[in-house]
Amino acid sequence: MGSAVSEKTRVPLIDLKRQYHSIKEEINSAIQDVLESQAFILGPQVKEFEGLFASYCNTKYAIGVSSGTDALLLALKSLGVGDGDEVITTPFTFFATIESICNVGAKPVFADIDPETYNIRPDLIEKSITKKTKAIIPVHLYGQCADMEPILEIAKKHDLRVIEDSAQSVGAEYRGKKAGSMGDLGCFSFFPSKNLGGMGDGGMVTCNSEKLEEVIHMLRIHGGKPKNYHAALGINGRLDTIQASILIKKLGHLDDWCDKRRQKASYYTEKMKGFDLVTPKVMDFNKHAFHLYVIRVKERDRLMEHLKADNIDCAVYYPVPQHLQECLADLGYKEGDLPETEMAAKETLALPVFPEITEEEQDCVIESVKNFLSASK
Ligand SMILES: Cc1ncc(COP(=O)(O)O)c(C=O)c1O
Repeated sequence: MGSAVSEKTRVPLIDLKRQYHSIKEEINSAIQDVLESQAFILGPQVKEFEGLFASYCNTKYAIGVSSGTDALLLALKSLGVGDGDEVITTPFTFFATIESICNVGAKPVFADIDPETYNIRPDLIEKSITKKTKAIIPVHLYGQCADMEPILEIAKKHDLRVIEDSAQSVGAEYRGKKAGSMGDLGCFSFFPSKNLGGMGDGGMVTCNSEKLEEVIHMLRIHGGKPKNYHAALGINGRLDTIQASILIKKLGHLDDWCDKRRQKASYYTEKMKGFDLVTPKVMDFNKHAFHLYVIRVKERDRLMEHLKADNIDCAVYYPVPQHLQECLADLGYKEGDLPETEMAAKETLALPVFPEITEEEQDCVIESVKNFLSASK
């Protein structure tokens, strides 16, 4: 059932055109420079962006790669994670986190999430450690860091490596430290809709170890060092020069965009106080980057239909918990094994949030949610 709001405005989940138009000159001239140079593969902008990104994250190194998925794959490979190894991670994430573990031949082992932050619960990680465990991949979901201190302590105690899946959390902070700067390696995605999005695929691995940096550099170009001499199997995983040139420009706006996301998120949270739903919980040790603004509501699917009828875009991240994916059936997980994740997959819903969203658009969303909740009382 749509309300009067629907005839007036369509509210998109994200509108990349608005961002592009606000910085069009900068972006067009950056692309033009690459076109003039014709240095499409590992042109100077890649190195420049790596340097800027490393200082943004406060890490010694950053290696530009072809996507967030390849960032995870290369991170695991660089640590020597492979056949027979186990990697503990969250089942409430995008499939790529799990896919990368499986693609190096290792086995994902799932620990359930905290129902308030949707991030992995550190106390459940320790229980899942076996002799085969090599690494932990916490995912900083929706733009909020997992509780890293206890995770790093567990890793130290059991001599495990930590890879931060920071694909959704560029710009987020945990106890004053940037996402991707706390573990052995940090992995980022520049998928266009991310807080720092390219105009195509792209990714980054961050680290403080010179050795890991060298290995990842080598692995991202087929593992050849020098060229044509292959001591290791790598991939074609370079960051594209055009993407790097765009991302250099966008990085200069990132903090402002993240601030705006936080303001928009606070507006929703303030205006939806007293509604029969759960707004995002921000832990006091975290600076949330609000890649997504995710509410929790019992009648999620009906609310989704209602919003769509009101011309408001919304989406579920993620409807299928990863331990229940068909292609992972061999792992032996069944429904009921990870109840918090399974419940979150049924009750969470992302509302439109992006730096350029207007107050009027947000009011449309709030009004529509309010109408739905009062009609279903
Ligand atoms: C948590 C998480 N991990 C990994 C990825 C993979 O990144 P990409 O799409 O750049 O390969 C994404 C991107 O959607 C993600 O959200």
